Amino acid sequence: MIRAEGIGAFAAAPAEVLAVSYDFSRHRRLLDLGGGVGSFLVPALRRHDGLQGTLFELPGAAAVARQLLDREPEGKRVEVVAGDFFKDPIPPGHDAIIIANVVHVFSPEHNRALFRAARAAATPQTRLLIVDMLTDSTHTQPVFAALAAGEFLVVAGEGDVYSEEELREWLLDTGWQPLEHKPLTGPTSLLVAAAKGAPAEGPPAAWPLRSHSKSTSEEPLTRPAKANPPPTGASRPGRGSRRGGRG
Ligand SMILES: C[S@@+](CC[C@H](N)C(=O)[O-])C[C@H]1O[C@@H](n2cnc3c(N)ncnc32)[C@H](O)[C@@H]1O
Repeated sequence: MIRAEGIGAFAAAPAEVLAVSYDFSRHRRLLDLGGGVGSFLVPALRRHDGLQGTLFELPGAAAVARQLLDREPEGKRVEVVAGDFFKDPIPPGHDAIIIANVVHVFSPEHNRALFRAARAAATPQTRLLIVDMLTDSTHTQPVFAALAAGEFLVVAGEGDVYSEEELREWLLDTGWQPLEHKPLTGPTSLLVAAAKGAPAEGPPAAWPLRSHSKSTSEEPLTRPAKANPPPTGASRPGRGSRRGGRG
């Protein structure tokens, strides 16, 4: 319970910013995979009466989430589903899926598996919202995110901090079209993807996120060119070999 609430406190600021800056009014059913105690669902549902939430969590964490959600008015609109997203079916029928602070817990292989499972549960209109500390292609900026990589490895056993380019590549490989990457708070940012090959593919009709965005284009983000690798020495020593043995 204490650990769950601690993670919830860490997520509070980006969750509030996401709730006001992303246009949830276009969605009806929001699924939070590895949703913790509902830190991202509650602010989004508070601001959007028409939104229903589903929180998917491992059984122990799901029970804690249910207890805490029962204390919140928005908790009545959240169904808590206990399961393992690598083994169990992910609840279908959601037009938005959040994966927040989960990617950094897992190896690249596990993250691809998670994105693939989310795609299998997606509708043609589903947007995938990945919230995490993402770095630039050199894995050195933002500095706080780069420094957190060691902690994620130690705490989670296979965790790491990944670059936007890495996530884009995994998304493209697993049936998602990356659309936009926007800062939220501190080193935490939002990467949005659409179900690839579905009628909804393409840039969002409206993107009301704040003007501090780095991106000026609403063109879908494409796979990074393999012929243009990062400068020599930019990748972290041992990174490739550590990834190869996990997942
Ligand atoms: C770092 S926490 C993030 C929680 C929440 N998304 C947030 O940002 O506050 C990662 C969460 O993923 C959940 N998780 C890890 N492996 C999972 C699995 N195989 N299936 C479902 N949930 C999982 C954990 O229980 C944990 O609550």
